[in-house]
Amino acid sequence: MSVGAQIRRLRKQYPQSTSAVLPALRLAQEQHGGWLPPDAIREVADALDLTPAYCVSIASFYDQFHLEPMGRTVIEVCTNVSCALSGAQEVLNAFERELGIDAGSTSEDGAFTLGTIECLGGCGWASVVAIDNRHRLRVKAGDVAGIVEELRA
Ligand code: FES
Repeated sequence: MSVGAQIRRLRKQYPQSTSAVLPALRLAQEQHGGWLPPDAIREVADALDLTPAYCVSIASFYDQFHLEPMGRTVIEVCTNVSCALSGAQEVLNAFERELGIDAGSTSEDGAFTLGTIECLGGCGWASVVAIDNRHRLRVKAGDVAGIVEELRA
């Protein structure tokens, strides 16, 4: 079944098409390899009788949606208060050094995307780093080289 057909079926579960935008974008993102290229946005818009601009406005608001290709491994460093007090900035700096990229970007080979993220709910185990949505706890800057080596293996 095409993505458009799946979204039209999904739409029937909601009172109005705007209510179905988030699950439709999520579905489209899953079907398009983890990001929302212009074709995916058009599919969602067409299936929900909305404009592509409206769909982009929603997708660009939420961190969970990606309008550019993501790396095969996504590393997100929590930089909220508890993690910040436990050295999250140093952890982030260490990932930038080890990966050779700035936060908010993807390595040229497409292997890694590095970013920051809001509180992951593990404040008691700061600093928390999400790697492909799996949380590493009590991460220190000195742990980062080993984590990257492990991920590259
Ligand atoms: S502040 Fe980092 S997990 Fe809550």
